[in-house]
Amino acid sequence: MSARPVGARLRTVRRADHAATARLAGAGASEARRALLAMERSRGLLLERRRADGRAELLAALVWWSEGASLRIVALDTRPQWRRRGLARRLVAALATRARRLGRPRLTLEVRADNAAALSCYAALGFSVVARLPAHYAAEGGGDGFALALAVARAR
Ligand SMILES: CC(C)(COP(=O)(O)OP(=O)(O)OC[C@H]1O[C@@H](n2cnc3c(N)ncnc32)[C@H](O)[C@@H]1OP(=O)(O)O)[C@@H](O)C(=O)NCCC(=O)NCCS
Repeated sequence: MSARPVGARLRTVRRADHAATARLAGAGASEARRALLAMERSRGLLLERRRADGRAELLAALVWWSEGASLRIVALDTRPQWRRRGLARRLVAALATRARRLGRPRLTLEVRADNAAALSCYAALGFSVVARLPAHYAAEGGGDGFALALAVARAR
């Protein structure tokens, strides 16, 4: 396993980041998913680090929407070589803080039932399965999905 400390800076996604954020989803991501990432109503948080040449390198990104009483995670991606260093954990924690500030009681998301890494990650972060979604990803060549949720304690 790779060393943990990364020294990444957290910031809000700006319009200029949309293409890079969508690319982060990788070659395996469906067109539908890329389109979601680029949509105007998406908001996002990203983690980047300053490289030796002074340029910023995008390491991980979380894209979310406001949906009723929830903040919905539309995409969460960590660049492959930076995985298992707590970056997704940090992004989800930042979104939970935002949800608390906004008075939203939960984070929600949908994930493919065959995405073992993501399911392990969300379970580790405290999400619970609230529904199985039969054939939810069939149009993308996948199968069932799961709807997950995380209750966010209210700020006091
Ligand atoms: C899922 C994903 C976002 C996790 O990102 P990450 O930055 O590696 O996650 P973290 O390092 O913050 O992991 C937090 C915890 O989740 C669990 N976890 C993360 N990846 C895991 C894996 N591959 N297998 C088992 N557990 C995993 C671990 O408990 C981990 O804590 P630990 O490293 O202290 O054991 C990343 O694997 C990814 O980008 N996958 C491809 C895109 C994707 O499937 N996104 C989710 C779809 S909505």
